[in-house]
Amino acid sequence: MANSNSKDALDLYAEVEDLLGIKEYAPKLYGSFFDILDSLTFNSLLDIGCGSGEFLSSVTNRYLLDNIYGIDRSSKMAKIASSRGLTVSNKELSEIDIKFDIATATFDMVNYLTPDEFIDFFEDLKLVIKDGGYFLFDVNSEFGLSEVAVGNFIAEDSSRFLTIESFYENGLYDSKFTLFKRDDRRYEKFSSYISQYYYSEDFFNLLSEWKLIKKLPINLYNMGSNDKVIYLLKYIGS
Ligand SMILES: C[S@@+](CC[C@H](N)C(=O)[O-])C[C@H]1O[C@@H](n2cnc3c(N)ncnc32)[C@H](O)[C@@H]1O
Repeated sequence: MANSNSKDALDLYAEVEDLLGIKEYAPKLYGSFFDILDSLTFNSLLDIGCGSGEFLSSVTNRYLLDNIYGIDRSSKMAKIASSRGLTVSNKELSEIDIKFDIATATFDMVNYLTPDEFIDFFEDLKLVIKDGGYFLFDVNSEFGLSEVAVGNFIAEDSSRFLTIESFYENGLYDSKFTLFKRDDRRYEKFSSYISQYYYSEDFFNLLSEWKLIKKLPINLYNMGSNDKVIYLLKYIGS
C-alpha cells in the first residue's frame, strides 16, 4: 500500500513553495479555472488543498458568494492563508459538515492522493457537495509528471538552501526535498518525501455518482505538450 504524504512533508513544502517559481504560472492556470467557473451558477465554494490561498483570494475578489471556505492538510499552509484574511482551516475533508455548490482543487492537489485515499476522497466529497453540484480540479498529465516535473532542482535565498530530486516510474512521482535553513550562523537540515500519483481520465469516468462534464488539457509550462488537465465533474447524487 502506498504511503500518504505526511503532514510534516506538506509543512516542509509550505516552507519552500515560494522558492519553486510556480507562482508565476498561477494566473494562467487559475484563468482556465475561471473560464469554466464563469459558466456555472454557484453560491458557495470549498477549495480543497487551498495552500497559501492564492486561488481562494482570487475567487473572493471575483465572485460575490454566500460562503467561501478553504481547507489544507498542512497547518502551515492553513496559517499562511488565514493570515491573508481568508476563511481557512486545517481540517480534513471528512470533518467538513456543511454542503457546498462547488468544490475546487488547484495545482495538483488530487495527484497528492494515494490510490487508497483517492477512493475515500471521492466518497467524502459526496457528503460536502449538494446534489447537482460540481468538483473542478486539475491533475498533472503523465507528460507533466514524467517529463516536466522530474530531475534535480536547486534554489536558495538569504536563509534557505533547497534541493529537490524527483523521479517518475509507473504512475508514481517521488520527490525528495532537502532544506538547509539558517538559524543564526548554523544551518539546520530538514528532509521529506512528497509523492504524486498519475490519474488518467479513466479513473474519473469510473467514479460512481460523478459524471465527467468537461476535460480541458493545459500546456502551463510551454514544454512542448500538455502538462496538466482540468476536469469538471458533476455530482449526480445517489
Ligand atoms: C501544490 S499545492 C497547491 C496549493 C493551492 N491549491 C494553489 O493553487 O497554490 C497542494 C496543496 O494540497 C495540500 N494537500 C495535499 N493533500 C491534501 C489533502 N488530502 N487534503 C487537503 N490538502 C491537501 C498540500 O498541503 C498543499 O498545500
